[in-house]
Amino acid sequence: MSRSAHPAGPRHADVYPEGHYSAPPADLNGLDEKVWAKTVTRNDAGVTTVGGIEVTRLAEEFGTPAYFLDEADFRARCRAWADAFGKDADVFYAGKAFLSRAVVKWLHEEGLNLDVCSGGELTTALDAGMPADRIAFHGNNKSPEEIERAVRVGVGRIVLDSFQEIVRVAHIAQSLGKRQRVQIRVTVGVEAHTHEFIATAHEDQKFGIPLAGGQAAEAVRRALQLDGLEVIGIHSHIGSQIFDTSGFEVAAHRVVGLLKQIRDEHGVELPEIDLGGGLGIAYTPDDDPREPHDIAKALNEIVTRECEAARLRTPRISVEPGRAIVGPTAFTLYEVGTIKPLEGLRTYVSVDGGMSDNIRTALYDAEYSVALVSRRSDAEPMLSRVVGKHCESGDIVVKDAFLPADLAPGDLIAVPATGAYCRSMASNYNHALRPPVVAVADGEARVIVRRETEEDLLRLDVG
Ligand code: LLP
Repeated sequence: MSRSAHPAGPRHADVYPEGHYSAPPADLNGLDEKVWAKTVTRNDAGVTTVGGIEVTRLAEEFGTPAYFLDEADFRARCRAWADAFGKDADVFYAGKAFLSRAVVKWLHEEGLNLDVCSGGELTTALDAGMPADRIAFHGNNKSPEEIERAVRVGVGRIVLDSFQEIVRVAHIAQSLGKRQRVQIRVTVGVEAHTHEFIATAHEDQKFGIPLAGGQAAEAVRRALQLDGLEVIGIHSHIGSQIFDTSGFEVAAHRVVGLLKQIRDEHGVELPEIDLGGGLGIAYTPDDDPREPHDIAKALNEIVTRECEAARLRTPRISVEPGRAIVGPTAFTLYEVGTIKPLEGLRTYVSVDGGMSDNIRTALYDAEYSVALVSRRSDAEPMLSRVVGKHCESGDIVVKDAFLPADLAPGDLIAVPATGAYCRSMASNYNHALRPPVVAVADGEARVIVRRETEEDLLRLDVG
């Protein structure tokens, strides 16, 4: 790792320009446990470690950029969710957040189920030995081939997303001589945002069948008549990065209203409801996620109360957390390349990755934290923007954050909470090579998804 001096220029200031940031933290060497994976700490030499291994050693062995995933933390979070919901509920990990064969094995060992939303995710799940009956298959436009495979292998449930799909799945199941367990995904007219929910026109989206206007009731009516389907319940997913349960409360109320209508009309009490995923994590110390235990307690209470009021047997609940399990368990390690101080503005810190390994900042205006991890520094805080190496000015990884003013090329910086939707949404933009995912546990590090190579790129380009 080389270190060289940066050009002279303003490295810090007393007054900062407007931006999405709070005051600089008291200690830039601190690693707030809210945003870092559980085993991450800084050792006596000032170097950050994960699973007992120094990041400097990890960078030498695996290169940068790379995602490092704390396996112990991942497993602990799986157990926390499973314990919180108990044996009368089911936790499905949402594979879209991040999926690999190692992850599937951990989920299996920790007793979780798995939600997949494509043939590719289904292949990964089955290949790594997840029993098919513990898989839920999602998607608003599953292909006939995907449906046929899911039915053939015997997935535990297919979540039906449209009127066409009700008929399609029933037909395929029947032609295979099977009866497929299904849930019907409804949109309840609630869209949850970080701290609020807006109960207006949120049927205006591609997923699910609206409750409004009786469409969902009609979907259930049709599904109940088809021999190829066993309707086990109703599914609702209200959004992403949600911190409070008030949106779930409205959703549960409306879903239970539908269950009651179904009971009254068809004499059938559907045995399950799925409340989806979307539970938030801390990307910065300002975020305050709730513990799985609190969430489980709140959701159970809501559903029980609503069912008692409707005189229904309380259905079995399932949830589908993705981000809340894998998000906090990984960080992305980058090497600092160039540094550009802009007087009165901020300092641009370029790293060796960017929007190809984390599109969330560009796509959702997401906020992240960052820290210098290869050494301690007691230099002044410097308002920084961490940017990538792509040919695009929107290629920002961390919009506004404080790094020490003595930051230099060759330093290693890490962005925490990148376990969810970073590797899974990574791209080859500018023919970047997608970084590896390295699992770290008890002093051992092993690659679970290898780094792409230029040969990989050329292999797909058939000339
Ligand atoms: N279940 C269903 C039906 C979903 O659609 C999703 C996410 C989940 C569960 C898991 O949600 P989670 O607990 O991970 O928030 N790319 C975006 C997130 C898209 C989420 C899509 N559906 C991001 O990076 O924030």
